[in-house]
Amino acid sequence: MTNNEHTEHTVALVTGANRGLGKRFAEELVARGAKVYAGARRPETVDIAGVIPIALDITDPESVRRAAEEAGDVTVVVNNAGVSTQANLLDGPIEDIRLEMETHYFGTLAVTRAFVPVIERNIAENGGTGAILNVLSVLSWLHPGTSGAYSAAKAAGWAMTDAVREDLAPRGIHVAALHVGYMDTDMVIYIPADQKTDPALIAKLALDGLFAGQNEILGDALTRTVKASLSG
Ligand SMILES: NC(=O)c1ccc[n+]([C@@H]2O[C@H](COP(=O)([O-])OP(=O)(O)OC[C@H]3O[C@@H](n4cnc5c(N)ncnc54)[C@H](OP(=O)(O)O)[C@@H]3O)[C@@H](O)[C@H]2O)c1
Repeated sequence: MTNNEHTEHTVALVTGANRGLGKRFAEELVARGAKVYAGARRPETVDIAGVIPIALDITDPESVRRAAEEAGDVTVVVNNAGVSTQANLLDGPIEDIRLEMETHYFGTLAVTRAFVPVIERNIAENGGTGAILNVLSVLSWLHPGTSGAYSAAKAAGWAMTDAVREDLAPRGIHVAALHVGYMDTDMVIYIPADQKTDPALIAKLALDGLFAGQNEILGDALTRTVKASLSG
């Protein structure tokens, strides 16, 4: 089965779809023939042809609950929304450290918990398989002090992804993680262009990997090197 054959029956939700990598995921899913809900805190800022904008703040339980009700035909979730406070764990504002964990860990988990029953219901009724892609980082594995809060939250996201994958595999839902280094988005506007990859290419690569059943999609050379060094 080609990736397009898979995605033309897909109904996807992308979180944080109004800009950056999330926007590229939504555009790529539309190009592959999927029905796409573009989740955003301010849905009026979604500017992507062919998507259904939907209000979704992943740190707000009521917003997550409403989104799962509104987007009741979803079979694929891309947990993309994220923040980068650059807080150091010892000196950084504790609110920033909490925001990283509330967003990358608890927010992603809240969306997952709300949408698993939705995905399960739809695959039971219509057949096929479901999928969840969690956008993580090379910093799930590399933990510099200067990005302590972000790295800890992405490491927690990695553990969550593995645990949820084991829970959901027998229930017909594949769970994958994207790990990647710098991409050219607002999040790392201060990084020189030659050190960043194109988020549109990463979105394509990640969706290819997700629909091919990969557990971990490694987005760039740095990420592959760091992952390889973990067993060293
Ligand atoms: N850029 C990189 O170098 C890089 C590298 C590795 C991994 N990542 C990961 O890639 C993902 C996308 O980041 P990006 O680079 O595209 O960053 P970005 O351009 O800063 O976009 C972040 C997106 O997340 C949304 N968001 C933040 N908090 C949210 C919340 N509570 N509820 C809903 N949406 C929320 C933002 O919405 P608003 O417009 O409302 O703020 C925005 O749409 C993140 O998980 C990030 O950690 C990025």
